[in-house]
Amino acid sequence: MKHLMSPLDLSVEELDRLLDLANDIEAHPSRYSHSCEGKKLATLFYEPSTRTRLSFEAAMLNLGGSVLGFSSADSSSASKGESVSDTIRIISCYADICAMRHPKEGAPLVASMKSSIPVINAGDGGHQHPTQTLTDLLTIRSLKGRLGDFTIGLCGDLKFGRTVHSLIQALVRYPNVRFVLISPEELRLPDNVRDGVLKKSGQEFREEVRLEDAIPELDLLYMTRVQRERFFNEEDYIRMKDFYILDTEKMKLAREDMLVLHPLPRVNEISTEVDDDPRAVYFKQAQYGVYVRMALILTLLGIEV
Ligand code: NCD
Repeated sequence: MKHLMSPLDLSVEELDRLLDLANDIEAHPSRYSHSCEGKKLATLFYEPSTRTRLSFEAAMLNLGGSVLGFSSADSSSASKGESVSDTIRIISCYADICAMRHPKEGAPLVASMKSSIPVINAGDGGHQHPTQTLTDLLTIRSLKGRLGDFTIGLCGDLKFGRTVHSLIQALVRYPNVRFVLISPEELRLPDNVRDGVLKKSGQEFREEVRLEDAIPELDLLYMTRVQRERFFNEEDYIRMKDFYILDTEKMKLAREDMLVLHPLPRVNEISTEVDDDPRAVYFKQAQYGVYVRMALILTLLGIEV
């Protein structure tokens, strides 16, 4: 049985097959609408979520399966002190597959060790968010036509932003990806990702503070929210939160074919006036998230259509 804890749990070939499947689902949704009949997905969310939880649920419903779960730690037995290990043993009796989001890094991994059903990490603290990465890869491959041979700017909270950590891990495996890491000094990419993943991969990268200095050369701009919930004090958050605001003026500096991605939710980092720019693809990206989660559920359950 396979779990998904980090994007590296899938080889590049497995990832390719998964993205192909997601594209086929997008093209022929009705072919898949009964493929998970009788199967249940549990969503165990100890941290807030809109897109990830609901897109998992929509994905399972689109496949003809059913869903159960909870959307906050307060409404689960965690509030009575139950451990993740005990919870997952119980959930294994009720469901065929589960997606877990937890504020503690490594909690889904602990769960996977005690689980008799596939566990998908739906975000663990500031660590990893592999299904957002699958969404990002599908979006890039579908709209840019390739994975590799491009320059990507990652902008915002690179310290706490788990989507960035997972995306970098996944992208270094493709040819010729140049990274521009755009963040304030205090929110720079952690050393374990900068040195342990980027430097080690041999891919070209550099760090910038000003978005204006990087934007003209980018093929892709991945914006992120400052992760308020991971700050130790509110004052630091307030100082950092509006450090970057992508607006129509800055978009004028960008290439005609640069794509803007964002895992969402957005706060102020992209002005709403950018939404009408054809280069802004973050809402499409959310739609791709459903197709790729459908493909993932089918793959982990070993269901062939
Ligand atoms: C992201 C997350 O939860 O890390 N959201 C998401 O899943 N789409 C990004 C964020 O919360 O900023």
